Amino acid sequence: MSCDFLRLAQPGVQKLSPYVPGKPVDELARELGLEPASIVKLASNENPLGPGEKALAAIRAELAELTRYPDGNGFELKSKLAERCRVTAAQVTLGNGSNDILELVARAYLAPGLNAVFSQHAFAVYPIVTQAVGAEGRSVAAKHWGHDLPAMLAAIDENTRVVFIANPNNPTGTWFGPAALADFLAKVPERVLVVLDEAYIEYAEGDELPDGLDYLAQYPNLLVSRTFSKAYGLAALRVGYGLSSTEIADVLNRVRQPFNVNSLALSAACAALDDADYLQRSRALNDAGMKQLEQGFRALDLQWIASKANFIAVDLGRDAAPVYQALLREGVIVRPVGAYGMPNHLRISIGLAEENARCLDALGRILARG
Ligand SMILES: Cc1ncc(COP(=O)(O)O)c(C=O)c1O
Repeated sequence: MSCDFLRLAQPGVQKLSPYVPGKPVDELARELGLEPASIVKLASNENPLGPGEKALAAIRAELAELTRYPDGNGFELKSKLAERCRVTAAQVTLGNGSNDILELVARAYLAPGLNAVFSQHAFAVYPIVTQAVGAEGRSVAAKHWGHDLPAMLAAIDENTRVVFIANPNNPTGTWFGPAALADFLAKVPERVLVVLDEAYIEYAEGDELPDGLDYLAQYPNLLVSRTFSKAYGLAALRVGYGLSSTEIADVLNRVRQPFNVNSLALSAACAALDDADYLQRSRALNDAGMKQLEQGFRALDLQWIASKANFIAVDLGRDAAPVYQALLREGVIVRPVGAYGMPNHLRISIGLAEENARCLDALGRILARG
């Protein structure tokens, strides 16, 4: 007799749908018999520049140490981040991607009977980590595709332990300004942990977006999460971090697996922090690519959601799924966002100029076919 291991799983886990990532280049190449090099992937908000030279050199230097476990406390990276972020090293939590930080928060602070509040159209990992630990996820209707912070405040009750807010948000690219964040933080009950997810913050310039770090000293219930996957171009290495009060960092450290960030990632992240030129080039390329896509959408008479991140959601004004499939056949991978409640949109990551042009070109031809 065999057991039903699905039924034996935690109730929240039984009902989970796994996270669906962007389609890998090799998978599409296998399916369509295409050369991987001929495929354009604008589906996972990756950095199109390729890894920086300084990060690559750091990785090479670290290779001889692969037989050893990494520094489980990430001393050097934490020290560097603490200096940059105007906090102490004890306030830094390192993660296997910032995704790991989101999971640590859920494991440490959520459980059956408790709830987490997040926005409609917000990053898919918030409901996943919440449900995985048996807590209730409260999705609050978005306003103009972005977070409705007053409505999120109103959704908090005595069983709320965590609020996830992303600025800018994925997959919409929407953002809120400093005044909105200040007002929100002032009103959130102090026993509720606010996770301010700033995975794309390095792309934002000027003071249109708040810098979450400015609020850490005032709000011991705030955790700011950031990543090396986007503007720093190290997505494959999986390294991100959380900045919070020492109390929260101490709690997360208790549930963290001992060596959650590998040694290549630790070294590369340290080197990336010192590579201001790479960051500058990432931003410049992103700004130019964003303008190029917006211009292309305008020419195709398409609407889009204004974005401060490294991707943009375009409204096709009809079911986007067949267009996504047609783009795949043209060797262009973008991201369908029907699962985010946006069936008419496609999310397109900003690529190199020629990649953006290929995507726009293919999109134009497909839409012209009707
Ligand atoms: C809003 C947001 N937060 C967090 C992440 C997690 O990124 P990583 O685990 O690579 O740091 C992503 C990735 O796409 C994201 O879009």
